[in-house]
Amino acid sequence: MSADLPSQLDADRYCVIGNPVAHSRSPWIHARFAALAGDRISYSAEWVALDGFAAGVRAFMAAGGRGCNVTVPFKFEAAALCTRLTDRARIAGAANLLRFEDGEIHGDNTDGAGLVADIERNAGIPIAGREVLLVGAGGASAGVLGPLLNAGPSRLVVVNRTADKARALVDSHQPLARVADTLLQALPIDALTKPFDIVVNATASSLAGSAVPVPPTVLKPGTLALDMMYGPSATTFLAWAQAHGAIARDGLGMLVEQAAEAFFHWRGLRPPAAQVLAELRPIVDARV
Ligand code: ATR
Repeated sequence: MSADLPSQLDADRYCVIGNPVAHSRSPWIHARFAALAGDRISYSAEWVALDGFAAGVRAFMAAGGRGCNVTVPFKFEAAALCTRLTDRARIAGAANLLRFEDGEIHGDNTDGAGLVADIERNAGIPIAGREVLLVGAGGASAGVLGPLLNAGPSRLVVVNRTADKARALVDSHQPLARVADTLLQALPIDALTKPFDIVVNATASSLAGSAVPVPPTVLKPGTLALDMMYGPSATTFLAWAQAHGAIARDGLGMLVEQAAEAFFHWRGLRPPAAQVLAELRPIVDARV
């Protein structure tokens, strides 16, 4: 190694932990953030067995890791493992970001901030005063519902294949909805007869190869229809949205924006998310 090349050996260590995790773009994104911010970190993808999440986090901590991102299916387990949680992670009951400090595990959830930033900044659509449909009631929905409410939609409807889970999610968020002055409802899928301004698909239906779980009556020309997935997993939803006149958007912008929030949380530096999204887009599109 040349003397003026920074060594990765003593760089602060971060990772993304998941199962599966090999497909993750997070190592690429964080490497670009660090390069563009003039910072130096090492960031790897760490696979752990489905029953090995807590042991995997502790092993990474013991090896000197400073923090990690958490992806499927461990976000609920991650929140439970933390000794401290930010309000947004506590309300979500799910964490996608851990920071290790003095033997404690601090947890946060940057998914919702990433989604809101992508809709408002990158897609240019303000959420305040709009009608929003959130499809799904699993960990992905739980992570974004609070920040979506904080953005002040006039109405937010949650629907889910298993209706009880949508009701539970809505019940736990009613205090936030009251503060935001948002009408927050859980509705059965067959009650969706009118279009929304913004539709967010937070289900794993695309991954399962299933059809979009809501009828096209939720769309109108100009509706922003966003799938939190990207790459091949998003194609069914995006084609459905375009076929019904909506503005189709995948989850790549949300991914980069939540990573930018994570980078800021860890490093105190705001990376140029829009630039990194523009660089990553052709790489991902070339593989679809
Ligand atoms: P995640 O952390 O990605 O949200 P999850 O907690 O397992 O994962 O939640 C998956 C979500 O996708 C749930 O809302 C699930 O619906 P159920 O609660 O009814 O299981 C939804 N989902 C998964 N496969 C689906 C499909 N084929 N059709 C409709 N919804 C589906």
